[in-house]
Amino acid sequence: MSTIDNQYKKTQNDILARVAKAENLSELNELRIAVLGKNGEFTAILKSLKDVPVEQKAAVGKQVNDIKVAIEESLAIKQKAFEEIELAKRLVEEKIDISIDKPQIGLGALHPINQTKQRISDFFISMGFLVADSPEIETEYYNFEALNTPSDHPARDTQDTFFVGNGILLRSQTSSGQIRLMQSPNIKPPIKLICPGKVYRSDAVDATHSPMFHQMEGLVVDKGITLCDLKGMLDLFAKEFFGVNTKTRFRPSYFPFTEPSVEVDASCFICGGTGIDKNRGDGIDSCSVCKGTGWIEILGAGMVNRKVLVNCGIDPDIYTGFAFGMGLDRITNILHAIKDLRVVFENDIRFLNQFKGVNSI
Ligand code: PHE
Repeated sequence: MSTIDNQYKKTQNDILARVAKAENLSELNELRIAVLGKNGEFTAILKSLKDVPVEQKAAVGKQVNDIKVAIEESLAIKQKAFEEIELAKRLVEEKIDISIDKPQIGLGALHPINQTKQRISDFFISMGFLVADSPEIETEYYNFEALNTPSDHPARDTQDTFFVGNGILLRSQTSSGQIRLMQSPNIKPPIKLICPGKVYRSDAVDATHSPMFHQMEGLVVDKGITLCDLKGMLDLFAKEFFGVNTKTRFRPSYFPFTEPSVEVDASCFICGGTGIDKNRGDGIDSCSVCKGTGWIEILGAGMVNRKVLVNCGIDPDIYTGFAFGMGLDRITNILHAIKDLRVVFENDIRFLNQFKGVNSI
């Protein structure tokens, strides 16, 4: 064996020994660069091949190449081994312990007003009503004029409105949506729709008033609709909502968009209409929900005024209709005996937690 052969053999053994000694991937990588990198020790040998005499070139070239292949193979084997160790380590470290006992994250629930809205909507949907949405920022035309309430109409005083200017306002009632729908070219009688949503009135905040509250208005227009249909439907609604023994009564009222107009009361579901509640527990017998009257006012309603139908391009000699509107906040408060409307809007989690599972849908 020539000196050169010995020299190469020594280099090979030396490098392979260092590969065998590498303890991890980064040491191996450093070694790879030190040996085979641009300025690596074995790269230097490869570069020096150009100086080998021509007659030895083939033999020496082969020998050096064999060594290079051996070094690369040992690096690859070692690299694979390290990668396997690394993977096994990660599999252990990153294992998710699904048995761990963590604190439960509380599930949310529908806000009590939304629960009321859902329940009432479900009732009307089951009777074939369409649920319609409409803008909260409205024009005077849809909120008042088309509803037979021109700017000089005294009834505008009863709804203190937030006027934005230029004929724009925050809607004071969702009746505006009913006009929009009746005027829509796609909607023709028979019409059955409900319009739930937020409405705004310039009221100071107290236990029973809020400048924003929620309404659900309904409208039915068809041939031959009468006040009896309204009475029958609302009676069914009251029974469904407050209990099968609930009775309803109409009291005369006034709204510019309905004629005749009525206020609708339901018999009190707490005292059964007697006005007396022996279970109050504070020594007083008078029912606190109906204030001893036996009746709870639930909504306003009436037969759609002929002028409103005309404004919507519906012939009042062929079609008649009824409309009704109720406050969802009021109904929620009645149902849950909430005395102060403000707590419903403050969204204190301790208050809201009490409605988990109540009226759940
Ligand atoms: N829009 C009326 C209000 O906000 C309620 C209502 C609707 C009354 C439909 C009659 C018919 O007070």
